[in-house]
Amino acid sequence: MVDPLLAQRVLPDVSLVHGEGVVWDAGRARLLFVDIPEGRILDADVTTGEVRSVSVPGTVGAVHPCDEPGALVIADSDGIALVRGGQVERLSGFLADRPDVRMNDANVDPAGRYIAGSMAFGATPGAAHLWRLDPDGGLHTLLDDLTISNGIDWSADGTRCFFVDSPTERVDVFDYDLTTGTLSGRRTFADTSAIPGIPDGLTLDADGGVWVAFFGGSRIQRFAPDGSQDVTVELPVSKVTSCCFGGPDLTELYISTSTEGLSSEERAAQPDAGGVFRAVTGHRGRRGALFAVPKGSGS
Ligand code: BGC
Ligand code: CA
Repeated sequence: MVDPLLAQRVLPDVSLVHGEGVVWDAGRARLLFVDIPEGRILDADVTTGEVRSVSVPGTVGAVHPCDEPGALVIADSDGIALVRGGQVERLSGFLADRPDVRMNDANVDPAGRYIAGSMAFGATPGAAHLWRLDPDGGLHTLLDDLTISNGIDWSADGTRCFFVDSPTERVDVFDYDLTTGTLSGRRTFADTSAIPGIPDGLTLDADGGVWVAFFGGSRIQRFAPDGSQDVTVELPVSKVTSCCFGGPDLTELYISTSTEGLSSEERAAQPDAGGVFRAVTGHRGRRGALFAVPKGSGS
């Protein structure tokens, strides 16, 4: 077992209630992330520390860059939307009549489709789904009977999809049909029940390693392609929510954290909870895909 690495806080002015969803926007060399309950989308230059933020109505679970420069796709309280010039343009409003459910983590598949999951505010078992929004604007249900739909990412060739439904305490892997955007053959990639906390966001590196945030576990854990544990990155805060590789050569691991569910004593003992962290691990990430904005959706 390798000694754990320590992550350092970056962006000292950023303190989030429920920080989530770090994503490296390689085209603009900026880090995107969200503060879910505050409905805030943040966009930072990690070199200068400059941070911009846009607020949207309700909650925002995830944000990703698009193939249209300047546009962002978000998973928000009502479903899936674009943000253009600070304005929210609805793509799909499938949660508009579900005030008990919000969108959570999401990602863009290697073909530019948006894959986004939900959770009930109270984490009601079985109330969550995973959806797919295609470049033709069509919405499809990929998985149902989930509880906290969380991290999702693909192998480099797009044939396997790694996915977390947090309370299962597993990282699962599916076969992924990149032509149709469908999942099959669900199986366990890694059983995480012996690791503190529950699995949350995840990202794959260039060697097929799977980096998983542990909510309540003060760590990011790397799993080798065979599912065995190797590198651990430790944080001085317990609620670790997501990670992504960024920086000019994709060798910096950025990590979001949260204050969700911390008691006032825990909050006082973790002054950096809700901050963004960075670790240099010796591993390199991959450039993420861009969401293919449906044709005819404004602009
Ligand atoms: C959700 C949290 C939840 C956590 C559990 C996050 O993605 O936003 O509300 O408590 O996952 O891992
Ligand atoms: Ca998450």
